[in-house]
Amino acid sequence: MIAIGCDHAATALKEELKQHLAARGVACRDYGTSGDAKADYPVSAFKVATAVAGGQCERGILLCGTGVGISIAANKVSGIRACCCSEPFSAKLSRQHNDSNILCMGARVVGVEYAKMILDAWLDSAYEGDRHAARVAMIAQIEAGTFEVD
Ligand code: RB5
Repeated sequence: MIAIGCDHAATALKEELKQHLAARGVACRDYGTSGDAKADYPVSAFKVATAVAGGQCERGILLCGTGVGISIAANKVSGIRACCCSEPFSAKLSRQHNDSNILCMGARVVGVEYAKMILDAWLDSAYEGDRHAARVAMIAQIEAGTFEVD
């Protein structure tokens, strides 16, 4: 199950990506917002991030105007590795190297078809672990306040 959410700047893109997920046979749960009313991006960021961190959803997609604000907010939730991507290469590597669990995009940055390509790259890529595992563990230590450096 993929959690998906957005602010008012990205409702149309969210609907397009929901259709794309359905066409791929990927189930998703919509955490809003919908409609034209202004909606603060930290609200949907928090809903999707807590659904992913809590295990209700395996991964998440968050959309705002730039993808930046909503990724910053999502990354404040413990256990979240949200990446803001504007091209497929970073989306792919964010899975393979960083084990990203939320993909963020900006509806004012990428077009609908390019957003689908970015999403496909992200969905089709798996975490490679191995040499990357120690670095991802360090991120968790920073989050936990236990990271020590010389
Ligand atoms: C809303 O106008 C805009 O600030 C928001 O969608 C996003 O781009 C913030 O990072």
